[in-house]
Amino acid sequence: MEATANNHLNNVDFIKDKELLNYLNNWQPHPVERAVCLPAFMYVSDEVYRLEREKLFSRSWLFVGFTNQLEKPKSYFTVSIANISLLIVKNEEGNLRAFRNICSHRFTPLALENGKANCFVCPYHGWTYDLEGKLTGVTEFEKHEDFDMSKYGLSSFHIDTWGPFIFVNLDPNCSPLKTQLGKLPKLFDDYKISELSHVHTHDYQANINWKLYVENTVENYHVPFLHKGTNEIPQLDWVSPVKSFFQGKDNYYVEYSSFSTKEEIEPGTVIEGLPPKLMQGYFWLSFWPNFCLFCLPNLVLVFLIDPISVSQTRIRWTWLVPNTTEAKSAENVQSLVEEYDKIQLQDLSLLPKIQNELAFLRSSAGPLSPSKEPMVHRFHEFLMAYLTDSIGMQKFQNRNFDEEDLF
Ligand code: FES
Ligand SMILES: [Fe+2]
Repeated sequence: MEATANNHLNNVDFIKDKELLNYLNNWQPHPVERAVCLPAFMYVSDEVYRLEREKLFSRSWLFVGFTNQLEKPKSYFTVSIANISLLIVKNEEGNLRAFRNICSHRFTPLALENGKANCFVCPYHGWTYDLEGKLTGVTEFEKHEDFDMSKYGLSSFHIDTWGPFIFVNLDPNCSPLKTQLGKLPKLFDDYKISELSHVHTHDYQANINWKLYVENTVENYHVPFLHKGTNEIPQLDWVSPVKSFFQGKDNYYVEYSSFSTKEEIEPGTVIEGLPPKLMQGYFWLSFWPNFCLFCLPNLVLVFLIDPISVSQTRIRWTWLVPNTTEAKSAENVQSLVEEYDKIQLQDLSLLPKIQNELAFLRSSAGPLSPSKEPMVHRFHEFLMAYLTDSIGMQKFQNRNFDEEDLF
C-alpha cells in the first residue's frame, strides 16, 4: 500500500481497488472555488461502504430514535444504522443504555423490535443478559476450562439525548454529544420539540447511496428546479438568501429562510409562543451524519437516515405537531403528510437515476457551485477526513459562513 505524508490510513487492508486506494491516499482538502464532487466510485463501491461503517458510522453520534419509544423503565427497542445492530434500553433506574444487539456466544441477534423485559434471553442457546448488558445465565459450560462469564457481556456504547432525540456513539473516545451540538439546542429551543405529538411515521426505501441523500439535504440549489411548480408550500421562499454555516466542528448545516407570503395557518395548529422570526420562516438542520430537522411554525419533520447497503438507504420521517385537538385532527395531519410526502417523492424519484449512472462512471466527478453547493463540498471534506483518519488534522478551506447571523 502506498502511503503519503498527509493521510494516515490505518487498518484498510480489505481495500483492493487500486483507484480507490490511490484516491484515499492522495486526498487533500480543496478550496470551494475548485470544488468537485466525490468520484463516482465513492457511491457504488462495497469497499467504501465498509470503510464508512468502520471509520465514520462507528465514530459519529448516530441518531437512533426518540425518548418516547422508551417510556417505562425496562423498556427497549432495537434499531440498525448502517447495519450496526443496536439495542436501546431504559434500565430499572430509568437510565438509557446502548448495546450491540448481538449475543456474545455465536453472534445471534438478541432482541427483536421493541417491548419490555427483565432480561434478554438469546433465542439460539439461551444465554441471558441483564439490563446492564451483563451475562447472567449460561448452561453447559461447567467443563470449559477458560470460560469467564464476566468477559462475555454485551458491548456497550455511549448514549445521550438532545430533547426527545436519542444518539449513540460506538467510539469509546468520542467527544461528548453536547460538544457536537454546540449552539443547536439554544437555536431550536423555541420549537419546544419535546412537547410535540408524534402523529405520523414513514420509512422511505430508496435505491441510492446514503451520501446522495445527505448532499440533497445540504443544498437548496435544486429546489426551484426539482420542486418547481408544485406549489405545495407556496409560502416557502425558496429563492431568498440562505444563511448557512458549519459550527467549529464542521458537523452541521443550518438554513433559515423567511416565508415570501404571509402564512395562513389555523391558529390552534401553530406551536405556541414562537417568536416572530420563527413564525415567519423555517429552520432546516442537517446534522452529521444521519439526522435532519425541518422546523415550521406548525410542523417539525424529523429525519433518520440509515444506509442499508452501498446502494440502498432507508429514510424514516416522523411528523410532529403541537399537542392540540386542531393540530392532531385527521384533516390537519393528512394535509401535512401529503404535502411533504410529495416533496420527498420528488427527490426520491430523481436520486435513484443518479445512482444508476454512477455505477458506470468510475472516477468521473462534476463541479460544485461555490455559491450554492459549498455545503456539499464541506460534507465531502468532512467525510473524507473521517475516511482517511485525518479528522481534526485538516484545515478546512474557505470558512466564510456567518454563523452569528443565525443567533
Ligand atoms: S448464539 Fe446466543 S446463546 Fe448461542
Ligand atoms: Fe429536495
